[in-house]
Amino acid sequence: MSSPIMLLVGLFLATCSLALASDPSPLQDFCVADPNSKVFVNGVVCKDPKRVKADDFLFRGLNRMGNTSNPVGSNVTAVNVAQLPGLNTLGISMVRIDFAPMGLNAPHTHPRATEILTVLEGRLLVGFVTSNPDNRLFTKLLQKGDVFVFPEGLIHFQKNVGNGFALAIAALSSQNPGVITIANAVFGSNPDIPADILAKAFQVDEKIVTQIQSKF
Ligand SMILES: *[C@@H]1O[C@H](CO)[C@@H](O)[C@H](O)[C@H]1NC(C)=O
Ligand SMILES: *[C@@H]1O[C@H](CO)[C@@H](O)[C@H](O)[C@H]1NC(C)=O
Repeated sequence: MSSPIMLLVGLFLATCSLALASDPSPLQDFCVADPNSKVFVNGVVCKDPKRVKADDFLFRGLNRMGNTSNPVGSNVTAVNVAQLPGLNTLGISMVRIDFAPMGLNAPHTHPRATEILTVLEGRLLVGFVTSNPDNRLFTKLLQKGDVFVFPEGLIHFQKNVGNGFALAIAALSSQNPGVITIANAVFGSNPDIPADILAKAFQVDEKIVTQIQSKF
């Protein structure tokens, strides 16, 4: 291949990776988050590198089960930049998800991250829905050891279909993936989205909307 073409291909690939990366690439080895900074930037301000300690890269306790005694029967323990300051600028984070028998991690999206999940205990029915206009549902029944990926931004869920507790660990391609739980965001916003708007959007009576809103 002649070098101008190589250069073009190189530029194209470089542009692709820039355009597809969720979090921007770091410009130094690390930028440990300084939670006390009063400066607001895209991410978190770096702590003085000379004061950085090994503990800034450590989170302990992901062996502990979350409390699943709640209406959906699941609990997510997040390890993102808020819990682990060393993650700042690194574009990655992790969660532990516990499921009571038949527990559900309700449909939600991560606006800034792709998620790759592995089942450590139990069996999970997982799925995601593609964007408009197709809204295709992809589902799979996962066993212990299976790995499944939820593409960035798409609505997805996980349900424990076993009689015992289930456990999954997932990695996410952002230091701060964000979570939008669909039911809570749509029916539990503060203040409420006016009932007539949701009635029209969901093509149901306003009474049904206010009934659902009262649950959140
Ligand atoms: C998840 O578990 C933690 C630790 O037990 C608990 O503090 C938290 O309230 C639980 N969250 C939910 C939504 O149940
Ligand atoms: C789990 O959460 C429930 C509901 O909030 C609470 O009653 C219970 O004491 C919690 N269990 C533990 C072990 O913290």
